[in-house]
Amino acid sequence: GSADIGVLGLAVMGANLARNAARKGFGVAVFNRNHERTDKLIAEHGSEGRFFPSHAIEDFVASLAKPRAVIIMVKAGKPVDDMIEDLIAQLEPDDIIIDGGNSLYTDTARRFKRCEDANIRFIGMGVSGGEEGALEGPSMMPGGDRAAYERIAPIVTKMAVSVDGVPCCTYIGSDGAGHYVKMVHNGIEYADMQLITEAYDLMKTLYGLDATAMSDIFTDWKAGDLDSYLIEITAAVLRKTDSTGKPLVDSIVDEAEQKGTGRWTAQNALELGVPVTAITEAVFARALSGRRAMRGEAEKKLPHAAVATRHPDRAEIDAIRDALYASKIVAYAQGFEQMAVASAQYGWDLKLGDMATIWRGGCIIRARFLNRIKEAYDRDANLSNLLLDDYFRDAVVKAEDAWRRVIVLAVQNGVAVPAFSSALAYYDGLRRARGPANLLQGLRDYFGAHTYRRLDKDGSFHTRWSQDGTEVEA
Ligand code: 6PG
Repeated sequence: GSADIGVLGLAVMGANLARNAARKGFGVAVFNRNHERTDKLIAEHGSEGRFFPSHAIEDFVASLAKPRAVIIMVKAGKPVDDMIEDLIAQLEPDDIIIDGGNSLYTDTARRFKRCEDANIRFIGMGVSGGEEGALEGPSMMPGGDRAAYERIAPIVTKMAVSVDGVPCCTYIGSDGAGHYVKMVHNGIEYADMQLITEAYDLMKTLYGLDATAMSDIFTDWKAGDLDSYLIEITAAVLRKTDSTGKPLVDSIVDEAEQKGTGRWTAQNALELGVPVTAITEAVFARALSGRRAMRGEAEKKLPHAAVATRHPDRAEIDAIRDALYASKIVAYAQGFEQMAVASAQYGWDLKLGDMATIWRGGCIIRARFLNRIKEAYDRDANLSNLLLDDYFRDAVVKAEDAWRRVIVLAVQNGVAVPAFSSALAYYDGLRRARGPANLLQGLRDYFGAHTYRRLDKDGSFHTRWSQDGTEVEA
């Protein structure tokens, strides 16, 4: 065969990735279990490049140049395992399977081993950017077999979008590292969206602004430090009217759904013991949004005083923008620390500056802001927390007054801002060399003899609280 790459699974992401590769000049073998999808792709887009469509997996495999490289784009979970088994039966040693879906990184590590045992090379590759990104150029996070990556690099780095001449695709690390990083990307995406949602709620509830007015404000914000894809599409969603002529957003049911990547990020943060409050709050906020009937009942039983609408003067709206920016910095600082801890724990040697670099374009969280993060890691590749970088320190210090004022207003008026306020709580907790956990340790020692350490001498100690009250070395 002579196709450079194969795409298995032609739902919208798979079809668009196949078209992307074909448009960039690569020969692309395509296969889908339901042949209608294959036929439709060829009928509608066959002229965009060199496609090699097949109705049988044997023909698909035969149409590929060796060593073969196959991207599978099927639903995360069992369909991926089934696909891998089908492929293993057909492929030859050194052929490469690339899972481009949103797989759980531990599944990826397991599949890596399964393929290794079968002499097949495996790459778990996070792909971000939605439908449009897949077609025009996504951000790609490949991990797994490094030598196999080198072989597909000329193809995938061309499929990915480039920013300042640098492709948004680089080798991430061994086994499940690529999917892990994609998972954290999605967690950050959850936090970003939650923060935007809280800013929207404040403007709507405290200031009575309508969707169009808010769309203008987000458009304004896009011109500044907050410049990002998510802010841009927020403005677009708020501006959209439906067939009644009214803002569409006002008719959308306020229940957020989720496919799991944000929850995985939070679960892993808990496992690693990294304080990732913003992402976790975002996951919980989605869960609370899902209790719509309960919220309806609670609003009746627990009524709150009507909020007196405030005048949306410039300074107050700017304060919300600053609170959003400071909270966003915290969310990213947390997400990047999570990756650093995971890297050490799982032996991945993640280059955090690379993550910022490949997230500058193509992906859902793409933003001017990612350049600032890249620069921070250029200054210090081992930076332990983004908030300790001069740029981010200055940015949060500058925003701090506004951040506090906004949260006070929200609390006084009963507007829930879990991500804004937990980000501030994290910030306040972080910048205290001496916190209150000394008391907590005392309590643990009191009821469970769990021991404590002292500031003034080495070792572990226990006080015989309910006996003679003396302290003993543990
Ligand atoms: C991306 C997106 C993509 C998908 C999310 C949505 O990077 O392109 O993150 O992966 O849209 O999985 O996640 P939820 O359905 O959980 O909101």
